[in-house]
Amino acid sequence: MTHLEKKDSPNKIKHLVGVMSGKGGVGKSTVTYLTALALKQKGLEVGILDADITGASISRLMHLPRYEMKVAGDLICPVETDSGLKVMSISFLVDNEEQPVIWRGPLLSRAIQQFWGEVLWGELDFLVIDMPPGTSDVAITVMQSLPLEGFIYVTTPQNLVSVVVARSMQMAESLKVPALGLVENMSYFICPHCGQKTYFYGQEETEKLARRFGTDLIVRIPISLDLARLPAEGLKPESSVVAEVLDKLGTFLINKLK
Ligand SMILES: Nc1ncnc2c1ncn2[C@@H]1O[C@H](COP(=O)(O)OP(=O)(O)O)[C@@H](O)[C@H]1O
Ligand SMILES: [Mg+2]
Repeated sequence: MTHLEKKDSPNKIKHLVGVMSGKGGVGKSTVTYLTALALKQKGLEVGILDADITGASISRLMHLPRYEMKVAGDLICPVETDSGLKVMSISFLVDNEEQPVIWRGPLLSRAIQQFWGEVLWGELDFLVIDMPPGTSDVAITVMQSLPLEGFIYVTTPQNLVSVVVARSMQMAESLKVPALGLVENMSYFICPHCGQKTYFYGQEETEKLARRFGTDLIVRIPISLDLARLPAEGLKPESSVVAEVLDKLGTFLINKLK
């Protein structure tokens, strides 16, 4: 129990994992959503905590309509999606999606602590944290004040990105948060005509990163129309790319953290 958990809290969260990168725009929120859904499809109770307060996008990615927040006693109720995921994001608390959150570090950190300790998560097998880019205030708060079991790191195959990811992996290591594994996003392109896979940046970078930090490469996700259209059209369950990613993510985490 951390100092943020009250003794009589109705929240019982078995596994708290973060989706981290250091880099922006590499697919952290996409992988957060896919990870949560993968675990849900394995029959588990799962929540998503959006820790990217200033760049919140998970609600749009998940097609969650505007929502009137409800409270139960002194706790905020998370949004419950049709597929049964519980989600908490600053997006549900602002008047409109384009309203910027202009807060300094301490206020951002306070919001994260509230999302952890003052939301009625109930009993969850997994709570997945969608991390902001960077290694400053919010990342430090999550690592130091929440009982994280580890991070899934999202990277892309370029050297410029893996250097930034290595930086956040080192930061987490020094704060004693283990790496659970790596997801390489936007790895390759599958030709819609002949099915051939093209690895624009090769396959070396993420393998090197995995070896260096002694962790696993969980899955490579191609750049795909099904994922590109996710924010506009929602998840296509018939997509073979999505099905493979869900299966690999879910199986990996359940085996790793059982
Ligand atoms: N594998 C992919 N193929 C195509 N588009 C993708 C893929 N992964 C992510 N995207 C798109 O890239 C953008 C950034 O992804 P997002 O998950 O929001 O990144 P982050 O949370 O790291 O900033 C989004 O528009 C998302 O839909
Ligand atoms: Mg994001």
